[in-house]
Amino acid sequence: MKISAVICAAGKGERAGFDKNKLLVPFHGANALYYCVKKILSFAEGLKGGDCLCEVIVCASTEDFKEISAICLPLGCKVVIGGATRTESVYNALKSTCGDMILIHDGARPFVTKEQCAQVLECAKSHSAAVLAMPVTDTITVQRDGYMGDIPERKSLYAIQTPQVFDAKKLKYAYERAIAEGETFTDDGSLYSRYVSPVKICAEGSAANKKLTYREDFLCGEYDLIAKLGNAGARTGFGVDVHAFGEKASHIKLCGVEIPCARKLVAHSDGDVALHALMDALLSAAGLDDIGHYFPDSDSSLSGADSGELLKRVLEMLAQKGLKPLCIALAIQAEEPRLARHIDKMKDSLAALTGAAEENISITAGTCEGLGFVGERLGIAAYCACSLT
Ligand code: CTP
Ligand code: MG
Repeated sequence: MKISAVICAAGKGERAGFDKNKLLVPFHGANALYYCVKKILSFAEGLKGGDCLCEVIVCASTEDFKEISAICLPLGCKVVIGGATRTESVYNALKSTCGDMILIHDGARPFVTKEQCAQVLECAKSHSAAVLAMPVTDTITVQRDGYMGDIPERKSLYAIQTPQVFDAKKLKYAYERAIAEGETFTDDGSLYSRYVSPVKICAEGSAANKKLTYREDFLCGEYDLIAKLGNAGARTGFGVDVHAFGEKASHIKLCGVEIPCARKLVAHSDGDVALHALMDALLSAAGLDDIGHYFPDSDSSLSGADSGELLKRVLEMLAQKGLKPLCIALAIQAEEPRLARHIDKMKDSLAALTGAAEENISITAGTCEGLGFVGERLGIAAYCACSLT
């Protein structure tokens, strides 16, 4: 069965009170929309039995269209212009869907799990329409002139979340009717219930799948986030590089800084052994391949390459995954040249090159007490550990 996913992101986020759409404000190294799309894509990877996600369509306001496209197109989504209400936004997205079933999800719920998506899909397959929901824990009342009015029995009350999954033809029929009648709804299940038939409640929702609505909703603790988003936060990496001394020269480069030295370091690039160890650490923390994979010795265009430029390309690869360097710990082993008086300059350079805060960068340098290839003055070794946010 072909499934189309629609992600609603065309709102203004007024209640959150940021100066822009709440889905686009910095949120733990990326933004809520990015995490949301990634969750839907990871759900798609787990689909089995002939089911496939044929498209992910993201609704964006005209104002955010460019920014949302920059986030979502590289992830393989389509972006369409939304409307003044959520109902109009979904209607616009539905016009271009091709799936047999439509999964609709609020961009403001990045904590959804792929298991929850799969559960609602299964439920919708047997009932034509299903929504994720969870029993309410508060007493709910209908307010009447400032007083408590009807108080439905709490046991019978559910808070409706997304994702919600529907038979495509029936949902499109319901939306045509709603738009023709000028009706708006806060979710798709309510609209479907009005025009087609009752919607199955799939009571697998969770408090964790909350909708980011108010500013304080964005202040989840780091620990919670790692648990909820899975791929953010605790990413550490390690890299090592070694270069041998070669011909006579006036300097070598370490961390992008020219350091007086009687011999150069033999390398295909500029031989910045420190930046090479750093790049491997960053790539490993991001779960990517090593620098040899991206910048092979066999590539003649890289002959004498500025390692600072290669580092920029590594940082771009990280940015594609919503990641950037947080802490860098670099250790260099060299019998010569003496590095102590260059360390501050090297730190400045690393901060400028990586965007990491200077207080999160440490560079240590030492000799090898005459032992091994470093001790015998045959070359220099660099070791780097880093974390990403
Ligand atoms: N949404 C949409 N198009 C609209 C309005 C809302 O696609 N015209 C989306 C939002 O981007 C959000 C989801 O619908 O992901 C749920 O809406 P809500 O939480 O109300 O978000 P906002 O409308 O952005 O927030 P607010 O109501 O506080 O302005
Ligand atoms: Mg709204």
